[in-house]
Amino acid sequence: MNSEAMERAREVEAQLTDEERFSLLISVMGTNATLTEKDPRIPDGVPMSAGYTPGIPRLGIPALLMSDASLGVTNPGYREGDTATALPASIALGATFNPELARMSGQMVGREARSKGLNVQLAGGLNLHRDPRNGRNFEYLSEDPWLTGVLGAESVRGIQGEQVISTVKHFSLNCNETNRHWLDAVIDPAAHRESDLLAFEIAIERAQPGSVMTGYNKVNGTYAGGNKTLLQGILKGAWGFPGWVMSDWGATPSWDFALQGQDQESGVQIDVMMWGKEPFTAPLREAYAAGEFPKERLSEMVQRILYAIFDVGIDCWEGTPDIDLTAHADIALETARQGIVLLKNEGVLPLAVPSAGGGPLKIAVIGGHAQLGVPIGAGSSAVVPPGGYAESHTIGGPGIMGSMRNLYLLPSSPLAELQKLLPDAAIEYDPGMSPAEAALLARRSDVAIVFGVRVEGEGYDNADLSLPWGQDAVIEAVADANPNTVVVLETGNPVAMPWLAKVRAVLAAWYPGQCGGQAIAEILTGVTNPSGKLPLTFPNGLDQTPRPELPGLGTPWGTPTTVNYNEGSDVGYRWFAKTGQQPLFRFGHGLSYTRFEYADLTVSDVAVQGRDGVRAELTVTNTGPRRGADVPQLYVLEGPAGPGMRLLGFERVDLGPGESRTVSLEVDPRLLASYDTDRGQWHTAGGSYRLVLGHSAGDFTLEADVSLTEAWFGR
Ligand code: BGC
Repeated sequence: MNSEAMERAREVEAQLTDEERFSLLISVMGTNATLTEKDPRIPDGVPMSAGYTPGIPRLGIPALLMSDASLGVTNPGYREGDTATALPASIALGATFNPELARMSGQMVGREARSKGLNVQLAGGLNLHRDPRNGRNFEYLSEDPWLTGVLGAESVRGIQGEQVISTVKHFSLNCNETNRHWLDAVIDPAAHRESDLLAFEIAIERAQPGSVMTGYNKVNGTYAGGNKTLLQGILKGAWGFPGWVMSDWGATPSWDFALQGQDQESGVQIDVMMWGKEPFTAPLREAYAAGEFPKERLSEMVQRILYAIFDVGIDCWEGTPDIDLTAHADIALETARQGIVLLKNEGVLPLAVPSAGGGPLKIAVIGGHAQLGVPIGAGSSAVVPPGGYAESHTIGGPGIMGSMRNLYLLPSSPLAELQKLLPDAAIEYDPGMSPAEAALLARRSDVAIVFGVRVEGEGYDNADLSLPWGQDAVIEAVADANPNTVVVLETGNPVAMPWLAKVRAVLAAWYPGQCGGQAIAEILTGVTNPSGKLPLTFPNGLDQTPRPELPGLGTPWGTPTTVNYNEGSDVGYRWFAKTGQQPLFRFGHGLSYTRFEYADLTVSDVAVQGRDGVRAELTVTNTGPRRGADVPQLYVLEGPAGPGMRLLGFERVDLGPGESRTVSLEVDPRLLASYDTDRGQWHTAGGSYRLVLGHSAGDFTLEADVSLTEAWFGR
């Protein structure tokens, strides 16, 4: 907590009129594709954005200008002609396991936001990947709280280091999109602390975001924005969060949320659209006049907003930062390079197929609009890249998000990039419109590269794991026609791979951002050695997941829905470990064109954060023929209370052939503890813990035991 900022917030708040105080408690949405009429509360000359809150110039308080920023500063519809660096999806950042890249992309977002006059970024999506159908998994980092918390914190630090406030969102358990405004997410409270809330806790304590955005959903029967247990009890109480809680857009049905811990209503027009009236400040003023809404709470709400403004320093901007779009494009490129995961490779990559007949290598590139560019996820996170989209196509759908459900292609064509890297190859394109037509080209090529795309997005969960538009049949036909078939997936989630045994290689490229085509081509040709690791488990079908049937799926938009997250904290790989199932591809899995070996695992019982904790040391060696990066992963498999798997630490290391590095990992004590809701504390059980080191959550090579004494700690 920054006591100077807090003191200043109190002093300034004391000088405000009630009218000014109330003015800070809402943000108004700018015009965009959905809201075409400019709200009169936004003065002329202010750049349009997702949220506007007026400033108080007489006291040096700037207006708040909020923009989405999960994968770059968003702009479609808001600011005519404006563009920004379009990063790969957060799930790709998760796959890099690289906190430094998270920091750099945050910095980039902060700088670009600032250059546009936007001082609050609606970034920091921290919900865990609980369900491979969740339409917004691409905006979230991983299924693991430690990986999510560490990377999320770095990206928030990057943004706020540029004097731009960042949120973390959507607090909490906003893990499905189906009927999201009417969704009750039910979970055991202790398990919640050990999973989604742990990701938020880690990110918040490391990065001190100015604001936390609540989810649309209910948590255990109460809307997240009106959830006293979550907001007062945990966030502001146990964790001492000093910033402000804003709602999601259209997630404030009642003024009384102010009494439960919400400090600001966002995007008021969406609330009017959703609930048929302006639900927050007008009734709040009435309640205030009637003595039902105390002055102390009004002051606290305002102080929290002012605190974040002063703490991050958005009132002290001097000049406009110079934007180096080339350097920013390099960050997008490097994230794509490090985030693409090579799932399978039977000797076909890097492209090493001899050309039949000795002429130029004949490559068939099939489907996925690969001649034009790479897709992005749909919804509020969409970014228009410099130069604009290569193509956009309306998809649509029911509910208020239908108008934002589009296929946008960023202009980085994998086909063109492949041709640049293989100038002598004869590359031909087939659109993948029909299996029969695609097979014709595949049959007369030396190698066939098929692109499988799926537009996933906000407001919609995927109905199943299949690729849409008949693409599975196309891949199948191509694989039947050509034994050297490579599949490149551009999706926001795991997909089913009924054709897996027939193809020789599979890349998960996610939504790879504005340089995605280049990164894909580099990996296919070996210019870049793949190093991405899966940030979520790829199941072998929905039957293996905690919810083979997703409640509410297929019901009309607006149907009250309850999802029991009865896997609790056993999310992803923990679920598979607990149920003893073999997934299609494990969390942490990712192949390379070189090999890494681990040795000398030592585990010691040391003081970590003043408590009995664990430090592990190990040596990683690149024993293969070329430079590459690896991510050794430390897990616990079993403790005194029985089996229980968890990622304890990881580090990305880049090594030349034959090179070794010693890695030291300090384990956060919460990762070896359970949460006790009765005592309101974390509990480390005394006894022996079995730790393993692996290439993924299953491929373990070394193990060691460590003993810990019983401890109670934290809140
Ligand atoms: C999304 C938020 C976003 C907000 C503002 C909502 O639909 O859920 O993540 O920040 O819109 O655009």
